[in-house]
Amino acid sequence: MAKAIVTHLPEGVSVPAHIGIIMDGNGRWAKKRGMPRKVGHREGAKNFRAITRYAKALGVKYITYYAFSTENWKRPKDEVDAIMDLFEKYLDEVRDFIEENIRVRFIGDRSMLSETLQRKMKGVEEDSKDFDSMTLVLAINYGGRDDICHSVRQIVAMACRGEITESDVTEELIEKNLYTEEIPPADLIIRPSGEQRLSNFLIWQSAYAEFYYTNILWPDFRGKDLEDAIMAFNNRNRRYGGIDTK
Ligand code: IPE
Ligand code: IPE
Ligand code: MG
Repeated sequence: MAKAIVTHLPEGVSVPAHIGIIMDGNGRWAKKRGMPRKVGHREGAKNFRAITRYAKALGVKYITYYAFSTENWKRPKDEVDAIMDLFEKYLDEVRDFIEENIRVRFIGDRSMLSETLQRKMKGVEEDSKDFDSMTLVLAINYGGRDDICHSVRQIVAMACRGEITESDVTEELIEKNLYTEEIPPADLIIRPSGEQRLSNFLIWQSAYAEFYYTNILWPDFRGKDLEDAIMAFNNRNRRYGGIDTK
């Protein structure tokens, strides 16, 4: 049995429904300790489990982690291989989440991943599809631009089959064909490690998200840091292009 998590958010604080996390800083975390980068990835992977449980305890409904971008293939082969090995290992462990009533989904282009990995991803998604306490989304070989291309390709295919015409192409239709189908837009995007950019994460889905940056490196990011981000989110004024009503 997992230990009960004690959270510390004051009463009345609103918890964002969908939080996106760019798990950055693993390499620097390892470098600071004179260790190989892959040790940082291992620590980062461990942390994602802890933060997921913490987020669930806080009442977050959707949490999306940026685990590997469409650009990360540019890294040295041994680093990419180490990351892929970690995914395989963690996909086995992600099964624990199923017992915690958490649905697991993956976004990104799977065709470039190993067959074993693809099979495990499909299995976890299938086995968790009816769970509803929280949805955990893992972005693997994900790119926001690729996500939009993927949607457009499906829409063009529908048009070629004569199912839709030009005027049917709406924001809703594009959204429905993104990898994130049925996942609400991101409310809060958190990026540790000090970088202040999106690096091709959820570009469509974060059109009205609030951004939170911290210098903490991802393997050192704790539940308290998640709470700090949520507190900062509570002090933002989301106008969505309108005017203040408060
Ligand atoms: C993020 O950590 C993990 C992946 C991109 C897979 P980094 O590996 O980018 O860590 P830094 O940015 O080099 O510290
Ligand atoms: C973004 O981090 C991708 C993930 C965390 C998976 P990067 O480390 O790849 O981003 P850049 O290169 O600093 O923009
Ligand atoms: Mg990085």
